[in-house]
Amino acid sequence: MTATLAIGTYRDTDRAALESDLGATMLDGLDALDSLDEDARAAVTTVAYAGHAPFGGAVMDKLPNLGLIANFGVGYDAIDVGAATERGVRVTNTPDVLNDDVADLAVALLLMQTRQLAQSEAHLRAGKWALQGAFPLTRKISGGRVGILGLGRIGREIADRLAAFKMEIHYWSRSEKDTPGWTHHPDPVALAEAVDYLVVAVVGGTETAGIVSAEVIEALGTNGVIVNISRGTTIDEEAMIDALRNGRLAGAGLDVFLNEPTVDPRFFAMENVAIQPHVGSATIETRAAMGQLQRDNVAAFLDGKDLLTPVN
Ligand code: 8YV
Repeated sequence: MTATLAIGTYRDTDRAALESDLGATMLDGLDALDSLDEDARAAVTTVAYAGHAPFGGAVMDKLPNLGLIANFGVGYDAIDVGAATERGVRVTNTPDVLNDDVADLAVALLLMQTRQLAQSEAHLRAGKWALQGAFPLTRKISGGRVGILGLGRIGREIADRLAAFKMEIHYWSRSEKDTPGWTHHPDPVALAEAVDYLVVAVVGGTETAGIVSAEVIEALGTNGVIVNISRGTTIDEEAMIDALRNGRLAGAGLDVFLNEPTVDPRFFAMENVAIQPHVGSATIETRAAMGQLQRDNVAAFLDGKDLLTPVN
């Protein structure tokens, strides 16, 4: 007997498909595993996971016959892939289907921050245009120098979009890519020194924790703007907040934070940041595609077929 658990928060359409197509049992979170008796836990071979709470070896051990964790999301930093591999548990994610939306949001955050779109809209809505006059002038990005930290699937989409803004494209990536006209830099500090805008598109996880260090922020300089659509962990958040508050960094456009959804309240008071509640992939179309890919991975596993998007 095999059983599939769908753990996390799912939209109604995904929940319905998980239940009807895969016969999945829904659980709110990993803690709810403790509410299942031993037989029920032993029957579980597959978990469709949608969450950012750590899914480590100790949790996996509660499901002795687990064979697959199918993650809803391209980033699988919440899952201890090493522990999964040791236990013979396969892991899948949902890459590619969200590239466009996340790249679109990166561009939007860059424009929101530099053109101060939230503030100028507030100026208009408050009637200040008529009463006090035009909104102050802002900052041009077209033709500027941008650095992409991490030229993976999403980073490349961001670079392609910003190339259309006639921006000079610089990047750092573990390996140099075949991208004529774009400049590769040997490390994140060198990249930050060469540009005014830094877009963070590396994967999350321990390997990239704090990759945007105080030194990188310093190198970006007083005119610098950081955009982050990856994970909050990639930036030394304390160093960034300090630099933003003390004029050592011009601004930031952030979709991701440490300790989501509890965002450091100091961000709410800063005029030089544009912030979003981790909505990079949050369109109806993309979330539907992510859900489908997650279920397709579960179905492939249950049918003994090749996984579509394996991680390990
Ligand atoms: C989602 C994401 O917010 O794909 C990712 O890695 O961070 C986002 O697409 C998340 O996975 C769903 O909660």
